Amino acid sequence: MKSFKEHPSVRERKDVLDHIEDFIENQVERNVRRGIDEIERFVKQELLRQGKKKDEPSLFSYLDALREDWQVAALAPSTKFVVARVLKKIDWKTTRTIIEYGSASGVITKQLLARLPADGCLVAIETNAKFVSALSRHQDPRLRVIHGSVLELDRLLAPSQPRSVDAIVSGIPFSYLKPMDRHQLLHKTEERLRPGGRFIAYQVTTHLIPLMKYHFRDVDVQFEIRNLPPHFIFTGYK
Ligand SMILES: C[S@@+](CC[C@H](N)C(=O)[O-])C[C@H]1O[C@@H](n2cnc3c(N)ncnc32)[C@H](O)[C@@H]1O
Repeated sequence: MKSFKEHPSVRERKDVLDHIEDFIENQVERNVRRGIDEIERFVKQELLRQGKKKDEPSLFSYLDALREDWQVAALAPSTKFVVARVLKKIDWKTTRTIIEYGSASGVITKQLLARLPADGCLVAIETNAKFVSALSRHQDPRLRVIHGSVLELDRLLAPSQPRSVDAIVSGIPFSYLKPMDRHQLLHKTEERLRPGGRFIAYQVTTHLIPLMKYHFRDVDVQFEIRNLPPHFIFTGYK
């Protein structure tokens, strides 16, 4: 064990932390951005090769959004394989009210609307202003788009108060949240679901499993490799 004298002083510790911060800023972030540029270049080339228009796919809006806003937390919209797994987890015979956390460009939103009954209701909550304005252009009386963070769920939903929700679908990066916020959000989520309601979250890592098991009666885990990056799909049953 080190003697008291050998421990780094506060000053030394601050130097180390400054050094780590510099390293993250100058090396890690720069390389991640370079990686995004490479992917963008590759995707553009591929689409041109396939004869598609440059501004057609939502991939570009994703990469642009990610560059400006790290909360976007994805290089591309969920693939049809993840979307299919999420849709399969909803009990469509009994589902009329859905809340979606982090709709982004709406790849899942549109499929939820396609299956929702005519008297159904879908509330999409998204922090990124560009995605919110794109989603708001989607004309559907069953869709309500809210600009804000799901951490303020109660305040955002207060005017209409959809309680007893059948399903909550989430693509937000839970790993970016503080542990207490994660806990609170799962508590609020469970509270808003009707008995038997489902919380479906697609995530890059498994860190949410213990918390899901704490808040839900039963939890089901699936893995989908055909996504960028591969995703786990968790379903919590109330
Ligand atoms: C990984 S993307 C999921 C996108 C989309 N649903 C899909 O399947 O392609 C996560 C989205 O959640 C949004 N987001 C992140 N934190 C959020 C929060 N606290 N509240 C609402 N939206 C959030 C991001 O802006 C981003 O659009």
